[in-house]
Amino acid sequence: MHIFLASKWTKAALFLLCLGPLAAIVLPFLTHAIIPDPLQFIQHGTGDWALRFLVITLTITPLRQILHLPELIRFRRMLGLYAFLYACLHFTTYLVFDKIFDLHEIWKDVYKRPFITMGFLAFTLLIPLAITSTAGWIRRLGGRRWRILHRAIYISAVCAVIHYYWLVKSAVIRPVTYAAIVGVLLLWRLGDWLAKRPRNDSRVQQRLAQ
Ligand code: HEM
Repeated sequence: MHIFLASKWTKAALFLLCLGPLAAIVLPFLTHAIIPDPLQFIQHGTGDWALRFLVITLTITPLRQILHLPELIRFRRMLGLYAFLYACLHFTTYLVFDKIFDLHEIWKDVYKRPFITMGFLAFTLLIPLAITSTAGWIRRLGGRRWRILHRAIYISAVCAVIHYYWLVKSAVIRPVTYAAIVGVLLLWRLGDWLAKRPRNDSRVQQRLAQ
């Protein structure tokens, strides 16, 4: 398993696999398939996958610790960037086809429709994370500050789930399932932080005593 996960081919295969949902969205248009509501089709497809990739990215750290597979970390940045890609496509669909570049209409929407406000927040929070995802930015910010900044992915995921929940009128089962998963991941992160805290505190005390 370790060799499989460490292989560059595994990473390349995952990269291609992550393009699958995009192909599933684009192909029906290329083959002139009948799509009753094309805008909704793209908006829902890209929104669904942005949220799925966000959740998958968040599961990497717990999985690598629970399964003792440190190599999983190699895929985290790529999966996070795919979340951002699908969120960009989702927002672009809204900007181009829904609002036809009418920035005034968009601001009105962000201000007046709570589910759009949440989506907008979820998306804007991902922008600095995508920009600072490179090794150069980790060096520039320093590991600690970079890690603190990248915790914003949890806030983005929470906003995205609320965005989804507020959008659906009655079929709440899917957003509620996402909420439960994000909740468990957040609790796990909190537990991990609390478990490591005494060690961190004693390290700080040792340093102060020197
Ligand atoms: C990380 C950011 C975002 C995520 C993860 C996300 C996720 C989602 C999801 C899961 C859906 C529902 C799909 C379905 O029903 O199958 C959705 C729908 C939608 N989202 Fe987002 N979204 C994000 C950002 C945004 C932004 C920035 C906007 C616009 C400013 C936006 C506008 C919409 C609209 C208009 C719909 C469809 C509403 C309808 O069907 O009436 N979203 N989004």
